[in-house]
Amino acid sequence: MAESCRIVAEVLEGIKKNITVGVTTKEIDAYAESFIISSGAQPAFKGYRGYPASVCTSINEQVVHGIPSSRKLKDGDIVSLDIGVLYKGFYGDAAVTLPVGSVSSQARKLMSVTEKSLAAGMEKAVAGNRLSDISSAIQGCVESEGFSIVRNFVGHGIGRELHEEPQVPNFGKPGEGPELRPGMTLAIEPMVNMGGWEVIILNDGWTAVTKDRSLSAHFEHTVAITKNGLTILTKL
Ligand code: MF3
Ligand code: CO
Repeated sequence: MAESCRIVAEVLEGIKKNITVGVTTKEIDAYAESFIISSGAQPAFKGYRGYPASVCTSINEQVVHGIPSSRKLKDGDIVSLDIGVLYKGFYGDAAVTLPVGSVSSQARKLMSVTEKSLAAGMEKAVAGNRLSDISSAIQGCVESEGFSIVRNFVGHGIGRELHEEPQVPNFGKPGEGPELRPGMTLAIEPMVNMGGWEVIILNDGWTAVTKDRSLSAHFEHTVAITKNGLTILTKL
């Protein structure tokens, strides 16, 4: 898990340098795919339920699962990049949202609150806590800043499969669900909207956008719960 997640982190680090005005999301996908393959890994998303690319690139009001295309990134856009790899039989999964050029202060706040909510969730991912302690911490952080948390998509267990039990919702009351135990590996991934939490799926069958077309951000880490606390596997 640590090895596959390290590759994910390295790809995201490499992509960050390629995020500039004028680059197309297809170019980002090509860069990521060749990086993954030259690391000896396989892109986890490509072919997953028919998904056509190695990266999800979700711009502005796109929440998750945006498909790379010839669309060019513009000054002021925010773009979420979500990457999964399979390496030596284990999956890693992570996402970040990045600014393109100079973005509005509201957009910057949306990104920082989303990242902060992931940190708040991870802080609760310790042995002895219950699963929904993570969920509730994320929701509390997001709503206290006046943003909304997406409900239609959730985090997940991860390991020999990309999506394993349990689901990890980003909302709910604390103290519910299974007890967290050493050895569990989870992908925690809050998706945060500036407006309402509702999302719809575009006609391509994949791209999730906010129903009110407000901006949305997404951050994700794969983490391991150990007896000595949490390890963020997709952080370099
Ligand atoms: N991080 C997302 C997830 O865990 C990305 C999946 S994209 C897909 O579901 F193409 F693989 F579906
Ligand atoms: Co995921």
